[in-house]
Amino acid sequence: MTKVIKGGTIVTADRSWKADVLIEGETIRAIGENLSGDEVIDASEAYVIPGGIDPHTHLEMPFMGTRAAETFTSGTFAAAAGGTTMLVDFVLPGPDGSLLNAIEDWNGRALPQISVDLGYHMAITGWSEQIHAEMPEVVKRGVNTFKHFMAYKGALMVEDDEMFASFQRCAELGALPLVHAENGDLVAALQEKYMAAGTTGPEGHAYSRPPEVEGEAANRAIMIADAAGVPLYIVHVSCEQAHEAIRRARQKGMRVYGEPLIQHLVLDEREYFHADWEHAARRVMSPPFRDRGHQDSLWAGLAAGSLQVVATDHAAFTTEQKRMGLKGFPSIPNGTGGLEDRLAVLWSKGVESGRLTPEEFVAVTSTNIAKILNVYPRKGAIVEGADADLVVWDPKLSKTITAATQKSIIDYNVFEGIEVSAQPRYTLSRGDVVWAHGQNSQPQPGRGRFIPRPAFPSAHKALSAWKSLNSPRRIERDPQNIPSGV
Ligand code: URP
Ligand code: ZN
Ligand code: ZN
Ligand code: ZN
Repeated sequence: MTKVIKGGTIVTADRSWKADVLIEGETIRAIGENLSGDEVIDASEAYVIPGGIDPHTHLEMPFMGTRAAETFTSGTFAAAAGGTTMLVDFVLPGPDGSLLNAIEDWNGRALPQISVDLGYHMAITGWSEQIHAEMPEVVKRGVNTFKHFMAYKGALMVEDDEMFASFQRCAELGALPLVHAENGDLVAALQEKYMAAGTTGPEGHAYSRPPEVEGEAANRAIMIADAAGVPLYIVHVSCEQAHEAIRRARQKGMRVYGEPLIQHLVLDEREYFHADWEHAARRVMSPPFRDRGHQDSLWAGLAAGSLQVVATDHAAFTTEQKRMGLKGFPSIPNGTGGLEDRLAVLWSKGVESGRLTPEEFVAVTSTNIAKILNVYPRKGAIVEGADADLVVWDPKLSKTITAATQKSIIDYNVFEGIEVSAQPRYTLSRGDVVWAHGQNSQPQPGRGRFIPRPAFPSAHKALSAWKSLNSPRRIERDPQNIPSGV
């Protein structure tokens, strides 16, 4: 059984050209002119792009006394509707602290539900012999990324010595450390300060997490990664201070990656000053939305290559859950959604405005992260032999984003009212159509697969080689040159 995507313009991270794509089973078999297959998928007047990869989601995450309401069923279907064919979700160890048990827990809940493919990042929320011992097995199971929270004091936060220990272990194992960069001690102190002053509403969330707090943590994480001799990936880069730290590190030859979110690119801090408490609380996430100047920095970083990936950090709580923080902003569950809208909003605000080229759009939504996560070119590419994760991207299919018609099960959408000019006509996951615009597509729980990712991506090997050539060495001295009696 073959399918051919006909009449479209293929857009990859490096070029665009008119060609058909022949799919056999789950795989791209051929790319060229006038191809034929058993089934034809119409791509006329449309682009054909690699399926989006969202490397930052928290579906059903237990967090801040509740659990993120977006399920793996609704989340992966919403992703497909938006042109995303792979998510990478964060696994959090439970009270027993075991990383391996946490993977079993995620497998048990996620795998029966997913419509599209899934990978995991593992959270390191402390340091122990057990964690040290389990990390190699985690990597063996195809999880080559470990996430460190520098914020959420008293819960997920790790201290610098714990991060250094974990980063060194990542260096040995060929794994990539990720950080949530915010100074958690400062955030906790500022939360207390604003609460004591009576600023208990969602605006206090923004005041207690200023950009400097993020910039400091980004610099610290970069320094720790450099000392450990390992590349570093900084999630949800929201401000110039953190971007500047990444830019500077990269100019020095360090292998540091930065991931802005679509939310921070288009929404700003005025959301928290909204007169309606619920409007503001629904947008509480960390780091918070910033004043608009920071958006220019993030957009420029994507075009310049100092920032590589646009993600969502989809951590979606209902309005009812947000009300947990009515008495004080520190108790509002942190997180916002976006995985259904990431591509359409980025295209409309980025490509339509001329801030990004279509090729850069593909790079930051799919190809770059596939390379960083070491699943390229199986994912993130349109080449023979790659998984047929493809989107027929219609640049003339407009809509107004609204919770009323979204596939996400959350009762609101932080992008409500934004007009987008493009969306998927079809989304294919390993050759199966998982979304067809206007054709009543449904979730296909259990058809998505876990995608293992091998260790030692080439950037890791290169950095290890460079670090071992340049590491401090003991000086061998002729005993003649050492004074006696020492
Ligand atoms: O506010 C956020 N970002 N919630 C999700 C957890 C995290 O920090 O990534
Ligand atoms: Zn501390
Ligand atoms: Zn975070
Ligand atoms: Zn997150």
